[in-house]
Amino acid sequence: HAEAQVLVASNRGPVSYTQDDSGGLTAKRGGGGLVSGLSAIGPDAGALWVCSALGDGDREAVRRGVGEPGVRMLDIPADVHHAAYNGVANSALWFVHHMLYQTPLEPVFDAEFRAQWTAYETYNRSFAEALAQEAADGAAVLVQDYHLTLVPRMLRELRPDLRIGHFSHTPWAPVDYFRMLPDDIAAKVLNGILGADRAAFLTRRWADAFTACCHAVLGPDATSGTRIGVHGLGADADFLRARAHEADVDERIVALREQIGTAPDGTPRRTIVRVDRTELSKNIVRGLLAYRQLLDDRPEWRERVVHVAFAYPSRQDLAVYREYTAEVQRVAAEINERYGTPGWTPVVLHVKDDFARSLAAYRLADVALVNPIRDGMNLVAKEVPLVSDRGCVLVLSREAGAFEELGDDAVVVNPYDIGGTAGALHEALSMGAEERTERTKRLTAAATALPPARWFLDQLGELRAP
Ligand code: G6P
Repeated sequence: HAEAQVLVASNRGPVSYTQDDSGGLTAKRGGGGLVSGLSAIGPDAGALWVCSALGDGDREAVRRGVGEPGVRMLDIPADVHHAAYNGVANSALWFVHHMLYQTPLEPVFDAEFRAQWTAYETYNRSFAEALAQEAADGAAVLVQDYHLTLVPRMLRELRPDLRIGHFSHTPWAPVDYFRMLPDDIAAKVLNGILGADRAAFLTRRWADAFTACCHAVLGPDATSGTRIGVHGLGADADFLRARAHEADVDERIVALREQIGTAPDGTPRRTIVRVDRTELSKNIVRGLLAYRQLLDDRPEWRERVVHVAFAYPSRQDLAVYREYTAEVQRVAAEINERYGTPGWTPVVLHVKDDFARSLAAYRLADVALVNPIRDGMNLVAKEVPLVSDRGCVLVLSREAGAFEELGDDAVVVNPYDIGGTAGALHEALSMGAEERTERTKRLTAAATALPPARWFLDQLGELRAP
């Protein structure tokens, strides 16, 4: 057997390559909680990270042998990857766990879906085979997320000597919702994960939902061979604080301040900040509608507040994501048209990814709006209080995993309730300085309690424990 003692497997790897017109390859760090968490561990951990080539740039990098040390990209045929990633993982499984279907007409599990499912099996098998090839005797393998649910069982069959863990970065659906999946597929997903020695989740709530699905679909003894664990993932305080004070962030603060402007009394305007992938489950449109209602209900905030909303491109191969992006832009423009004045733009929306600008917005935030419909954890909720210069009030959905750790010190909302969210924004904007500071301190302590390195090493330790 090969050398690697610790292996990580995920669809998205730490970098992705784009190819320019002259054929040059540029590496770019990927978005989302999984990559943020795992990248923080760095190459020092000595792990081999097996991931998928995601686009033409990545495939070209594999062909040319370009890559990062400690990373192996799998060149899975583009059509297989597309069907597995967009058809099964990001449509069926993501939609089930985040409860995103408009159920009178969706989901549609037809012949096309069955073909996509076959591709998903092929894609999972490619990972299992690569891991089987790379792993040393008795190595620990940490398989990540809903893209790779079948890998643990496939890998166990190929390599019974390995210690295998599976980690879900998403919520897990409640039983009745999960059972929308065709019965055989529901059973395969669960049995796939149960091929691992340990299956772990970001919160107790998601772990319990998984166990409940196993019992309902497979029977009362289903989970007896697998340990179920919970590992909350926290923010990487040292990295973020240092990165948020580099020159490029300072430059963007100057530019953002310009866009935000000053209130009629000459003081800087308050900011309500959100930073998300343009993701259906992040609930960006209802966030904008709540802000609009705030301006309606509480005219005293007009000219005195700006909503800084960064909604970065995500999963643009899926039509509903493209439509959602357009809706975010439409609603933001409508608010600016209706309320804006020559010196005040109520919503500052940016849809082009820029990490330094995100950190600049974090630093300027008076209020952070994190209102997902459902979210595995949500790292933004943990990052903003930690980075903000003035102490920032967190408006947080009770359906985010982060709620379990931060709920006591946040202003908590039901993400569907626009009036309630508008009220929460008013409460957050009105909070006295002393209470803000106290809450920010406690939020920061809770947000950094489990830094990514600890999250990773705890799992490894548990997996290796007898
Ligand atoms: C979530 C998932 C990750 C995924 C990320 C970004 O955080 O749990 O597995 O990498 O979203 O989505 P993408 O489809 O761009 O990888």
